[in-house]
Amino acid sequence: MNTRVLTGITTSGTPHLGNYAGAIRPSIQASRLPGVDAFYFMADYHALIKCDDPQRIARSRLEIAATWIAAGLDPEVVTFYRQSDIPEIPELCWMLTCVTAKGLMNRAHAYKAAVDQNVTRQQEADDGITMGLFSYPVLMAADILMFNANKVPVGRDQIQHLEMARDIGQRFNHLYGQGEDLFVLPEVQIDDEVATLPGLDGRKMSKSYDNTIPLFEGGAKGLSSAVMRIVTDSRQPGEPKDAQSSHLYTLYRAFSTAQDAAQFRKSLEEGMAWGDAKKQLCTLLEAELGPMREHYAELIARPDRIEDILQAGAVKARRFSQPLMERLREAVGLRSLSVAVPDGAKPTGKKNKEKQARFVSFRDEAGKFRFRLLGPEGQELLLSEGFADPKAAGQIMSLLKSQSLDNYATQEQGVVSVRVDQVLVSQFDAALLPELREAIAGMNQE
Ligand code: TRP
Repeated sequence: MNTRVLTGITTSGTPHLGNYAGAIRPSIQASRLPGVDAFYFMADYHALIKCDDPQRIARSRLEIAATWIAAGLDPEVVTFYRQSDIPEIPELCWMLTCVTAKGLMNRAHAYKAAVDQNVTRQQEADDGITMGLFSYPVLMAADILMFNANKVPVGRDQIQHLEMARDIGQRFNHLYGQGEDLFVLPEVQIDDEVATLPGLDGRKMSKSYDNTIPLFEGGAKGLSSAVMRIVTDSRQPGEPKDAQSSHLYTLYRAFSTAQDAAQFRKSLEEGMAWGDAKKQLCTLLEAELGPMREHYAELIARPDRIEDILQAGAVKARRFSQPLMERLREAVGLRSLSVAVPDGAKPTGKKNKEKQARFVSFRDEAGKFRFRLLGPEGQELLLSEGFADPKAAGQIMSLLKSQSLDNYATQEQGVVSVRVDQVLVSQFDAALLPELREAIAGMNQE
């Protein structure tokens, strides 16, 4: 089975060189590896926690989407979407909120840091802290668990959030899974090869330190004028420089081959002027970023095209999130009333059973009642037509559950039609028939 890799970027600013080298570039490389299914998204609900300027949020979503694409993300290969286009994410966030211990959230670094700051300033501990900030890790857990991600590549500052996502997912599995896991527990992926870039002043490049080098903003000129502002020591041209301790060298290395980096280092040690070193760095950066910048400008000029790409991405993503959400609603008891409700407590004797197929019912956008048959891995095997009467849908489901599919299926030109009392229930590709037969047979033995 493929490894599902998922990561998100909060859309509250303009992407800088550090975002590119630390997140975007390695993620795009990873998405091209065989055996990887990549899910990359824009965490725009998270952005609302940090930023209440609508203009800035809107602009940042556009810029970050365009950056991903200009940097080479292929939307055919990657499931690329906006968090806010997936309504199942906030829905899951609520379900998770209801099983998350408040004490767990009290321990979150970001929240604790905000409290500490208030205390230092002799303000009330929770001054200015929203529920959004407090619950940030739950929303992030929803992002990850919604798509059953195996690996989540992030920076070190996010490790705790991943641990919390595992905690929450595990608790939910325990409470509602009835012996089978509703969620995959994600693993954090910290790549030491991936560069954490220093900013102009040598501290980690970050918007909060105001030390960033813009990626595309300001064009080639913006890039070079930022590079010229990189802090160096006061050694004069001709004096040997200590490359290892120079941010300039760290930046250079992140964009060059090992060979060129060694050459650059040697030149510094032999006394290359800082000014010349900066020029070399500019040339190097420009070679990688120049062509992307052009593509970026084209994209930014046609936001409608990016919108189309993201809408298509949302459709792709919801193919996973919708069926899982139906399962989850079923699991927590938010079920259609027309399906018989067992009297009393939880059904028994189901623990540790093997993974099985299952029917889940839901109401579609037109208000019709439909159901899906999901395979043991939660994948959709069959989608029913819409029924006006929920009871009819319920009866058909129990009929299919208890009998051989062949009693109701006819096949014509590679398409199987399932009919009950002459009413069309569903049509699907005949190639799916064996899998469906087996899934239903498995349920019959219950
Ligand atoms: N919190 C992450 C950050 O600030 C962004 C993010 C939101 C994220 N949801 C996610 C990252 C899910 C990985 C997976 O960098």
